[in-house]
Amino acid sequence: MSLLVDNIGELVTNDPAYQDPPLGRLHDAAVVVEDRQVAWLGPAGDAPAADERLDAEGAAVLPGFVDSHSHIVFAGDRGSEFAARMAGEPYTGGGILTTVEATRAAGDDTLRATAVRLRAEALRQGTTTLEVKSGYGLSVADEARCLHLAFEVSPESTFLGAHVVPPEYAQRPDDYVALVCGEMLDAAEPYARWVDVFCERGAFDADQSRAVLAAGAAKGLGLRVHANQLSAGPGVQLAVELGAASADHCTHLTSADVDALAGSSTVATLLPGAEFSTRSPYPDARRLIEAGVTVALATDCNPGTSYTSSMPWCVAQAVREMRMTPAEAVWAATAGGARALRREDVGVLRTGARADLLVLDAPSYLHLAYRPGVPLVQQIIHNGVLT
Ligand code: NIG
Ligand code: FE
Repeated sequence: MSLLVDNIGELVTNDPAYQDPPLGRLHDAAVVVEDRQVAWLGPAGDAPAADERLDAEGAAVLPGFVDSHSHIVFAGDRGSEFAARMAGEPYTGGGILTTVEATRAAGDDTLRATAVRLRAEALRQGTTTLEVKSGYGLSVADEARCLHLAFEVSPESTFLGAHVVPPEYAQRPDDYVALVCGEMLDAAEPYARWVDVFCERGAFDADQSRAVLAAGAAKGLGLRVHANQLSAGPGVQLAVELGAASADHCTHLTSADVDALAGSSTVATLLPGAEFSTRSPYPDARRLIEAGVTVALATDCNPGTSYTSSMPWCVAQAVREMRMTPAEAVWAATAGGARALRREDVGVLRTGARADLLVLDAPSYLHLAYRPGVPLVQQIIHNGVLT
């Protein structure tokens, strides 16, 4: 079955072959979808025949969002921690252990129900590719089952056994690092594409983080780093040194960090939901973009620091609070996320790309920032299927 999406007022392709970088827009366009892929795109009048037709009625169409950072395998609720922060309490990362306790106590069905619900919630808002981390189990058995559940909802699954040191290892953190690098990695690896580490004071230092990332790389996993979230530190430079796909957060950067990112293939993934929800200063997106760093936007969806699954909301936040242009923010939420996951088949619309398309209830991508909080994603084609 082929599907013609016709009468598109503004088509965002992210294809550098077109004028108008970075979004590569076409006007009065059409797209043909067949076998889960984009089979053709171009001027509406030139479209080949197809089995079915969807009339976009002059609206904007863009690639599905690529949310390259989430933690949706968890149990419990930390609404009261959020309320305390809004009343002035700082975020220290200590609340992670509250979620670890709840996650360990929860059955697989409970954890699965939450992950499936949040995956569906994200898709309804246009997220057609979602990365999902473990990191609230922190024992061999709990990390293995969290990874398994992550992999059930997404092939972009990430082992985050090095999230924090769990209480039973508080007096011997290096033994915990050895466990993460050994038995825990062995148990998680069959369900993981990536390994991640929270490189931060109070979590894992540079040597510990390097050990975890090297062990993951030796097993064939790609690398990601939670870097420079709460303070400047070694995370970003470690990510670049080891060729990580992404350094995530990048809230507190030195000039050397920016230079390192600019000369590398490591994407800086910015997570405005975390700054919003911890009442922190936002990362300096302009400084990164002007230095030539590739920037992605993601939700960081988790019960502690950013309980949103909404990429459109992150786009609006990035424009308002991080001074990204609407075009930069939409690119970062689609093509940028794809770069952060080292994927060439998503985040872009061109012949042969995966058919992930969003039809907006709006004439332009601009409305994603111009109309914050409004559910503008009207129709979703995910992997070639109209949902
Ligand atoms: O990305 N920084 C570390 N991990 C999460 C927070 C997790 C939590 O507080 O539960 C983050 O913000
Ligand atoms: Fe995170």
